Amino acid sequence: MAATRPRRAWIAVAVALAMTAGAAAWLRGAGITSRRKPWPLEEAAARSMRRYLIPGAARNAPNPVSPTPEAIRAGMAHFADHCATCHANDGSGDIALGRSMFPPAPDMRSEATQSMTDGELFYVIERGIPFTGMPAWGNGSAEGRRSTWELVRFIRHLGQMTDAEMREMEDLNPRSPADEKQAKDIDDFLSGRGKIIK
Ligand code: HEC
Repeated sequence: MAATRPRRAWIAVAVALAMTAGAAAWLRGAGITSRRKPWPLEEAAARSMRRYLIPGAARNAPNPVSPTPEAIRAGMAHFADHCATCHANDGSGDIALGRSMFPPAPDMRSEATQSMTDGELFYVIERGIPFTGMPAWGNGSAEGRRSTWELVRFIRHLGQMTDAEMREMEDLNPRSPADEKQAKDIDDFLSGRGKIIK
């Protein structure tokens, strides 16, 4: 009887080692890429870990900025300038950079994001999400915190975006000097001021 217990322990160790080696070989065979969708289990585990790590007081913090049209507009302008490169103007994440990351930028109009509290949204915007493409935007200033709360108001508005708002955001998206020049050439051309480029 006494001899069987250590033997069982060795079998358990051998099985655990074999499983680890098997998992390592399988992962190696799968290679690495940022162009894949996280598995539902991976996503659920990451979300619950994040929820667990956000302190209760931060999660329950109320939004001090009222949902006025001005606050939503301010959030919209800020989003077009700083966030849309990865999240797209409509928050869908359906844009080259957002899609190519692992994990990809989520569709923020979805239940998964909208069921986060205002405090959780504020927290991740200010502090970023480690091991993902989501940067930390907080700079510690009261002004910065206010604009983050405005961004939270805008995220709540994503499901009700109008075509006019989408067009306005396109004007506010960052453009390189080359983009600016091209836009000016097109304007000049259309208004008859520019030379015709063959
Ligand atoms: C460089 C790319 C990038 C930029 C710029 C960026 N984000 Fe993100 N963001 C991401 C990625 C990638 C995720 C997904 C992280 C994850 O899956 O945990 C994310 C996640 C989030 C989330 C969590 C949503 C959820 O459902 O988990 C919020 C909120 C968010 N971003 C807001 C913003 C705001 C507001 C800005 C602009 C101030 C911004 N992001 C700018 C890449 C970016």
